[in-house]
Amino acid sequence: MRRPKDYIIFPLDFSEYESVVKYVELLKDVVGVFKIGLELFISQGPGIVGAIRSICSNKIFLDLKLHDIPETVKRALLALTQYRPDFVTIHPELPKGFLEGLELYQTKVLGVTVLTSIDKDMLGFMGYKDEDISDLVIKRARLSKEIGCHGVICSGHEVKKIKEIFGESFITVVPGIRPKWVVSKDDQKRIMTPRDAIVSGADYLVIGRPIRDAKDPKSAALKISQEIESALKEI
Ligand code: C5P
Repeated sequence: MRRPKDYIIFPLDFSEYESVVKYVELLKDVVGVFKIGLELFISQGPGIVGAIRSICSNKIFLDLKLHDIPETVKRALLALTQYRPDFVTIHPELPKGFLEGLELYQTKVLGVTVLTSIDKDMLGFMGYKDEDISDLVIKRARLSKEIGCHGVICSGHEVKKIKEIFGESFITVVPGIRPKWVVSKDDQKRIMTPRDAIVSGADYLVIGRPIRDAKDPKSAALKISQEIESALKEI
């Protein structure tokens, strides 16, 4: 049985080791997963995975959003498995069945759909002028499914549809979460509250700044957990 805190992924968006240790120690009992992104991975190197594991037993998400030719992505993925992350991310423009037969141990591979910071204007600029963002998310979720991903990163607005089309077990990880009590959206455009994302069927919520920048980060995470707990009762 999953606990409310298991739904929370906290991104360790720092470059200094001391901040990582501080936040891991502070939040290890109130979030489920720690996410290591490009900033931290590049600053501290892969040894940071072992350093976090020596402090806690939370799941680890290596969010490196791999994007390259198939052979390079395959070799990078196989190299990453030595750290036994629970989750990794890739861009899904890869051949059908790409992940078949790869020894990935317990690692779940998630496809990047459309970054939640991208809005319609940016999509137009990228050449998808008449494309609806949600349609593009579904197309990229299909691509992710076809290459063998276990799930996707998507906004809360597409979770319901993704579950309907690709099945309940296809994992949805949702960034761009902003509780009602947080004033700033920062650079996130397609946002949702923790309650709404959970009711839509999200499996994990990536929640960074609302926790990190709160006066009391641990209390903020606990408050979000309570919101998740009551949302789970609504499902
Ligand atoms: O909650 P906040 O906006 O601070 O979360 C930022 C984190 O969410 C960053 O680590 C960023 O990489 C991640 N993110 C993501 N996918 C997106 C948008 C943001 O993983 N589509």
